[in-house]
Amino acid sequence: MKDFIFSNTTKVYFGKAQLHHLSEEIAQFGKKVLLVYGGGSIKRIGLYDKIIAELNKAEMEIFELPGVEPNPHHTTVNKGAALCKKEGIDVVLAVGGGSTIDATKAIAATAKYEGDDCWDIITGKAFVPDNLPIVAVLTLSATGSEMDIGGVISNVEQNEKQPMFGPTLRSNVSFLDPTNTFSVNAYQTASGSVDIMAHVFDVAYFSAQEEMDMLTRMQEEVLKTVVKFAPAALEKPDDYDARANLMWASSWALNGFLFSGIEQDAIAHMIEHELSAFYNITHGHGLAIVIPKWLSYILDEKAAPKIKRLGVNVFGVDPAFSDMDGAKAAIEAMEKFFFDTLGLKSRLSDLGIDDKNFAIMAKKACGAKGKLEGFTTLTPADVEKIFELCS
Ligand code: NZQ
Ligand code: ZN
Repeated sequence: MKDFIFSNTTKVYFGKAQLHHLSEEIAQFGKKVLLVYGGGSIKRIGLYDKIIAELNKAEMEIFELPGVEPNPHHTTVNKGAALCKKEGIDVVLAVGGGSTIDATKAIAATAKYEGDDCWDIITGKAFVPDNLPIVAVLTLSATGSEMDIGGVISNVEQNEKQPMFGPTLRSNVSFLDPTNTFSVNAYQTASGSVDIMAHVFDVAYFSAQEEMDMLTRMQEEVLKTVVKFAPAALEKPDDYDARANLMWASSWALNGFLFSGIEQDAIAHMIEHELSAFYNITHGHGLAIVIPKWLSYILDEKAAPKIKRLGVNVFGVDPAFSDMDGAKAAIEAMEKFFFDTLGLKSRLSDLGIDDKNFAIMAKKACGAKGKLEGFTTLTPADVEKIFELCS
């Protein structure tokens, strides 16, 4: 494994009686806050009123940016950044799921950019070393944005969806209250649970590099946590333990610890991001369809032992199988979990996606390098075949 530095500076308040700390935390950053949220779920669950009460307690001047879309648009980010500049905002507060937090991170950076288009920063045309402070109140366990250094923004006019990363793009303070996720519906709970698992598979578990056994075993524990608690949350949406385990698993899957010393290849994510860029589908659902087919496609003698290990340690596959049979059983067990237990549809055609854009999406997924390097290297032709397997 590579040498590494581990640092995670997000201060986390976890639990059901922590929101009263929001006023003191937000006040340390200044007087003017931009409150960013999505399509209204925070109002339906009564969280909006609690947030406003906390901000009033801190005597903050409140500005709002509602309406952040799932797969957030760069135009919405630009709107938020312009508001920050016009009003001299001191701190940006995200209340919502990954889309809202990602948009908030991009707003926080663009607010410090002399230009007005966040796409310049996301595409590397401009570099902004600094951003406004970020505070997050998470309402959906999935992306890990509450504790990671990235965000993903969509440019719908160009069918592009791109990540942005930066050490300062981490939330300064995050509030993780599992009760705020009781209202997440079955579909988003299932999709979010797959996303948590995908971060472990994609960024850490299936990696080309040498690994540290302690971390591999901890990755398996996070995966097992989701396998245990996602069905419990589906069965009983207000099961506090289930929601709490999923929430902390979401944060730990992507907060840097589990992939210490490992390059973040994220091959399945690169493939899925094309699907959500072109078709605006739910990210975790796209991953559920892509990951088993990706693993089936790359399965060979070299890949088999690791895929089998996943099956044995996470999905209860019989260790007596040969590597190849064990790996096939692992992929089958994964599909059973995603599609039977979590209830997600298994094919792109179920989402109304045909083969029209497979070639262009495959090319875009491979980016400027023209290939995806990681656990195994994929060319655009390989990615196109994976899309065909998913169709
Ligand atoms: O918009 P509202 O009304 O809030 O409704 C949302 C939205 O419709 C709803 N929701 C959220 N919390 C809820 C709730 N509904 C009821 N009760 C609650 N408590 O759920 C829907 C989906 O929300 P969204 O934020 O889009 O979901 P998620 O958290 O899965 O975020 C997905 C986005 O994050 C990106 C994805 O690509 C996608 O754009 N990712 C971000 C990453 C990161 N920051 O590092 C990594 C991931 O791999 C991922 O790419
Ligand atoms: Zn993801």
